[in-house]
Amino acid sequence: MAYNITLIPGDGIGPEIVAEAVKVLDKVADKFNHSFLFTKILMGGCSIDEYGVPLTDEAIEIAKNSDAVLLGAVGGNVGNSRWYDVAPNLRPEAGLLKIRKELQLFANLRPAYLYKELQKACPLKEEIIGDGFDMVIVRELTGGLYFGERETKKVNGVETAIDTLSYNENEIRRIAIKAFEIAMKRRKKVTLVDKANVLDSSRLWRKVVAEVSKEYSEVELVYMLVDNCAMQLVMNPAQFDVILTENMFGDILSDEASMITGSIGMLSSASLGKSKLGLYEPSHGSAPDIAGQNKANPIATILSAAMLLRYSLNLTKEADAIEEAVAKVLSEGYRTVDIADSDCEKIVGTKEMGSLIADRI
Ligand code: IPM
Ligand code: MG
Repeated sequence: MAYNITLIPGDGIGPEIVAEAVKVLDKVADKFNHSFLFTKILMGGCSIDEYGVPLTDEAIEIAKNSDAVLLGAVGGNVGNSRWYDVAPNLRPEAGLLKIRKELQLFANLRPAYLYKELQKACPLKEEIIGDGFDMVIVRELTGGLYFGERETKKVNGVETAIDTLSYNENEIRRIAIKAFEIAMKRRKKVTLVDKANVLDSSRLWRKVVAEVSKEYSEVELVYMLVDNCAMQLVMNPAQFDVILTENMFGDILSDEASMITGSIGMLSSASLGKSKLGLYEPSHGSAPDIAGQNKANPIATILSAAMLLRYSLNLTKEADAIEEAVAKVLSEGYRTVDIADSDCEKIVGTKEMGSLIADRI
């Protein structure tokens, strides 16, 4: 079969890691007899340099008309005045928010699990790690504070900034359904994380999620306040299976969850909507400090490509093949520098890691 994949290399280490994912996808195409047609678009700082905006309408059209989108990372040092001394809607990150909204990608899946091979990198104590943990954060991605009405104005002569956090029941219901569907294929537990002791929006989340849960009697539903969740993640991470939460809480908790795996360079993510079209990207950022040095870990992007095959193209065997190849390379002891112990003898660069994985498919 032939598939159209939009590539967004982006900024910083983005182009290097996307190139390695393409190397792996080309190998999959070869091995399983598919044809992947790649079309590159600009987003982020590179698009600002070229067109003066972080994402053009033409680029969005290309993405919308493809089967899936693979993204590296966007953004740079905030000190880069060309990209950051401009209105917020013209900064690199605005391109990311725009593509999420335009493609209606309301569900952001961020898995966080501890690789056995990488346990030493986990910052938690051994007794807390126990047998490891395996959770997925299902973050609402197109509502809440990120997309609410906002304004900065003088109120009685005092400068005042307002951001609004609003959700309607439909926005909550569709993401809740996604979370329960995912839980059905996992350990059948959903933890709804909110601030229902303070916020009206959180109380609406509780009401709607409770309704949805009636359709999924096998799934256990637990309510947890966000401050408690931040604590539980470092105290007892194994209790979590699916964490369902709104946009801003999900942004914050997913960084915490990825940190406790000790290997943010390993974590993939998927942003999904109603249709098959999804956007796949590593959970880490553009790391401008190491860009162009063949140091970045391409595994999160390669695993994102596996998610792309699984969720957007329905190519399960092929996705499994990528994940198995990654596990094999790790078990053989190869590491990029970010996940290497001090005694590691097989430290490799970005390109070598990509080739090692492609060779094992
Ligand atoms: C993320 C990032 C983005 C977000 C930024 C870059 C706008 O932190 O994907 O988690 O807050 O959603
Ligand atoms: Mg974030």
